[in-house]
Amino acid sequence: MERRALVAGNWKMHKTPLETEAFIHSFLESWEANDRVEVVLLPPFTGLERARGLLTGTAVVLGGQDLYFEDRGAFTGEISVEMLRACGCRYALVGHSERRALFHEDDLLVNRKIRAALASDLHPILCVGEILEERRRGRTEEKVLSQLGAGLDGVAGKEMRAVVIAYEPVWAIGTGETATAKQAQEVVRVIRGWVAHTYGKDVSEAIRILYGGSVTPENTASLLEQRDIDGLLVGGASLSPDSFARIVRAAMRG
Ligand code: PGA
Repeated sequence: MERRALVAGNWKMHKTPLETEAFIHSFLESWEANDRVEVVLLPPFTGLERARGLLTGTAVVLGGQDLYFEDRGAFTGEISVEMLRACGCRYALVGHSERRALFHEDDLLVNRKIRAALASDLHPILCVGEILEERRRGRTEEKVLSQLGAGLDGVAGKEMRAVVIAYEPVWAIGTGETATAKQAQEVVRVIRGWVAHTYGKDVSEAIRILYGGSVTPENTASLLEQRDIDGLLVGGASLSPDSFARIVRAAMRG
């Protein structure tokens, strides 16, 4: 089955609304909508509204960098699914390694967020990945599968089609050290196998699995050549409209 590629730019804690505006103007100049690649921008919450205004009528899609699973209430600093949707978001990152490591998010919280997103028609991008120590000890598969099992606990097959999975080896995030295309493919293949085993072949053939971790315009093509890698979650290289546009163009050719 032909899966549409997805390239998502995770800006993390970068860009004010004004900087968001400058990026979008510049990016849109060098980008042409096409059916092959879906482009998703994940600005900080404060940039979403401005981004939405500028992206209306284009095929660029917005996502939140995270969400909270409750609908509303006394949860200072948090953002609900409904708030994201009201800002035009169709996607949200969940379980990013920085959230897990710096903000102590555990699998239970990740699971609640995934289920809250799915309950309100927001596509979660579930991030999983091993740390260097786990890779060295041959524990990569075990770690990734345990994060998947826990993160997707209670998610039904029908809902699963709305989930995007991002394999992001933690040692490759922001380090300039990319997993080789072969290393990335190996783990993404295992992830797809797990989805097939858990949800059936149809679902596993339908869902998109991304790679993330020091993606650049230069390594895009070799990563996307891999059979099971359907797209990229880009951090640092998504901050410049030029390099992000080059990544998207390379993905279009793939
Ligand atoms: P990076 O970040 O591309 O800067 O390594 C990727 C991510 O954290 O999603």
